[in-house]
Parts: sequence; structure tokens; C-alpha cells
Amino acid sequence: MASVDVPVALLGYGTVGSAVSRLLVESADDIERATGHRLRVVRALVRDPEKERAFPADPGVLTTDIADIRDDPSIAVVAEVMGGIEPTGDYVLALLAAGKPVVSANKQLIARRGAELFGAASAAGVQLRFEASVCAAIPVIKVLREALVVTTVHRILGIVNGTTNFILTEMEKGSGYDEALAEAQRQGFAEADPTEDVSGADAAAKMAILATVAFGSRVTLDDVEYEGIESITPLHVAAAREMGMAVRLVGAASLVGGKLDVRVHPALVDRRHPLAAVEGAFNAVMLQGDAIREITLEGPGAGGIETASAVVADMVSVIGTTGTGFLQNDACWRELEPLEPGRLRSPFYVRLDVEDRAGVLAHVALRLATHGVSIGRLVQHQDNGSATLHIVTHEAPAGDVDAALEEIGGLEESRSAPSALPVISDRGVPGLGWA
Ligand code: NAP
Ligand code: HSE
Repeated sequence: MASVDVPVALLGYGTVGSAVSRLLVESADDIERATGHRLRVVRALVRDPEKERAFPADPGVLTTDIADIRDDPSIAVVAEVMGGIEPTGDYVLALLAAGKPVVSANKQLIARRGAELFGAASAAGVQLRFEASVCAAIPVIKVLREALVVTTVHRILGIVNGTTNFILTEMEKGSGYDEALAEAQRQGFAEADPTEDVSGADAAAKMAILATVAFGSRVTLDDVEYEGIESITPLHVAAAREMGMAVRLVGAASLVGGKLDVRVHPALVDRRHPLAAVEGAFNAVMLQGDAIREITLEGPGAGGIETASAVVADMVSVIGTTGTGFLQNDACWRELEPLEPGRLRSPFYVRLDVEDRAGVLAHVALRLATHGVSIGRLVQHQDNGSATLHIVTHEAPAGDVDAALEEIGGLEESRSAPSALPVISDRGVPGLGWA
């Protein structure tokens, strides 16, 4: 089936807007395969069209006049990635009234003027989606609205602001507050006015949105009691560490006896609690309910491309699919070869029972080295003339580790068949160590 060309527009072409534009270009084939549509940015509203952009727009796309978007009947959906309440709110109302679906990443706008905006969307019979307004790349709104449609959620606990979580975890590593905030701004996590982040207002708006969706009752920013991290000092961080805890900015929304409570405040979180393990600009949301017990979603909670992925997903949901794209049925569109046996890389734990005499360790190390397997850690336990070696290798192909162990098993000093178990020691994502 021929693809359908879908003109779309953006309000804003900053950190998130330019990333949306980049994703629509670079993932155009994926989107077309999934939906049958090619989304093309034809207009983007900015303040200054001359400004240098992270991903430059095509000539003629940038405009300073909202009418260029509102009055263009070809534009099928508009992404609001501009931020602020005014003039943004009035622009969104005008677009909805003109029959244009809107997707928004603007938590303050949704949390403050949601009733008015959703009313306008209903009246016009168009969609207003807002996945990117809460926790960037984590599809928590979709999970609450679609996957948990018949589940009663009675408590939400979350880390929902990337900037403050980044600052707190940098403080744990010894950075100062101001230095960490400046780095969050440099990396594009922080709001245009970072006071919204550090005061807790950003997290409060997100908790208002989550509570509204989960409990089905309108919660606005004014209904949320919040406190930020401005008063948190290195002394709090050090004291928490000494007591086996971590300082986190936590949002909590609870339904207690049919009544609502939504708040955001800094808290000491036990190191064994899942929220203590959330580091950097990552967010996590724990949904607690009768049937589901507890579901935790964790992922990037801020950042241009991370947020853009949710914006594009919302645009795709609005546009829908033509024909029978895989969103509606079979997910298979290609045939991938299986990886050759033994080529998957991992660190391994290796246990060896050997004779306890001179040169044995050298023989073992030589067999590992011959197959390119490097030793990361080694512990030896002796017992009555024999020794047990506990080795953790650096990452290596499983087949190379097996080949080395086969040779080691054949050494005359070996007392039993060596065994290896994979070690899970990182997040599998470059730059992410243990959370
Ligand atoms: P940004 O980098 O400051 O970009 C804002 C864009 O909107 C700029 O292109 C700016 O134009 C344009 N703009 C602002 N006010 C305007 C006005 N009055 N008229 C016309 N254009 C205007 O902000 P951002 O980081 O992309 O954030 C955008 C939205 O996404 C915010 O609601 C934010 O809360 C949300 N969000 C951001 C992140 C993140 O990690 N950055 C994550 C999730 C959600 P100029 O470029 O000409 O100045
Ligand atoms: N400033 C926000 C944060 C961006 O740091 O979480 C994501 O909404």
C-alpha cells in the first residue's frame, strides 16, 4: 500500500521540538512500516527563526505566526513543545477549536488548565494527548489509561523530576548543588526556569496529572502540597548514606477511604527500596492497586530525544494506521538470523577446584588469556591441599569462556569439571552503570 504523506506542525523548536523533528526524519521508515504514514514537519512556531538549532528545520518551516499553523487545513496534528502557560494555552485552545488534534509535553499547562483544554478538545471532537508531559520516555499514561483500564490504582509513588534526581545523585558523588544544577541545564533536562524543577513545582504538576488519570478525578497544581530540594545540603545526603538511605524527591498520590492526597517532598528512602536505586535523570513510577499489587516503570524522565519519543508516539496514536499495520496485528516484518552460538558477550563467574600448588594459577590464567578472556576479580579458598578459585571475568563471548574452561578442565591439577555462570553487572546501556 502506498504511504500517506501527513503534514504536522510543532509549537516550539527547542530541546524537545528539534528532537521531535530529528526523530520524524530519522525514524520515518519505522513509522511508515508501523502505520503506513510519513509524518513531515511543515511548520514550527518559534520566537526567533534566526537562532541556531540542534537539528535545523527545512527552509520556510520556522514561523513566528500561530495563524500559519492554525489556518493551514493540511496540518493533521500539532505537537506543543513550547512550554509556559501563556500564550501557549490560548494557542492550544485556538488549534483545538480549529479542529486540530494536539499532543503536549507541557505538564504545567495540563495540570493548571486541563479542565478547559480537555473541554475544548471534546467540544471540537479532537484528541488532546499528553504522554510526554509526565516522565518523558516512560509510557506511564498509556499504561494507566489502556493497560490498567479495569484496575483500581490506589497509590502512586514516584520520582518524577529528572533534574532534581540528577542533582541529588550528583551530590551523593560529591558534587555541589549549583554545579550539578548547571550540568542539568547544560544537558537540557532542566526547565527554561529551573526554579520549577528545584522547587518541586514540576514534580507537583506531574503528580497532579498522574492522580487525575489514575483516580479519574480532576487534580490541579493547586491541589498538590509540594516542597523542593532547595533546603537539601550535603549534610542531609551524608547522614542518609550513613543510615543506609538515600535522599530523593518523592511524589505520592493516595486514595484513602475515597479521599485524595497528592504531595511532593524530599524524603529519605531506604537503600533497599526501588526508588533509592533510581539515579541521574531517570524517573520511576510505582503503581499500587488491588489486582496488580505493584508495577514499577523506570526510565529516562527528561531529555530532548527521550521526551521526543513520547511526543512522536502520541502523534502516531492520533494519526492511527492505514490498512493493517503491525500496530493492529502481526508484529513481524523481517527475518533476523540467530546470533552464532557462543558469540553473546557477558562477564562470567567461573568456579574451579584445583590442586593447591605452585604454578596452578599461572596455568589457569594462561588458558583464559589464550582465549582472550580477562580476569576481573579473583578469590581463592584453600582446604587440605586443594583450592577453590572464584573468578569473575571481564565481558567475553560465552564460547571463548567455554573453550578456556574445557582446556582448564583437562589440566592435571584440575579436580572437577569447571563451571561458569553469567554475571549481570551493568544496565546494558552505554553510560549506565548500576542504578
Ligand atoms: P526550550 O528548549 O526552551 O524550547 C522552547 C521552544 O518554544 C523554543 O523553540 C522557543 O523559541 C519556543 N517558544 C517559547 N515561547 C514562545 C513564544 N511565546 N512564541 C513562540 N515560540 C516560543 O524548551 P524544551 O526543553 O524543549 O521544553 C519544551 C516543553 O517540553 C516544556 O513544556 C517542557 O516542560 C517540556 N519537557 C521538556 C523536557 C526536557 O527534558 N527538556 C522533558 C519533558 C517535557 P526560540 O527557540 O525561538 O526561543
Ligand atoms: N525539567 C523536567 C525534569 C523535564 O527535569 O524532569 C521533564 O519533564
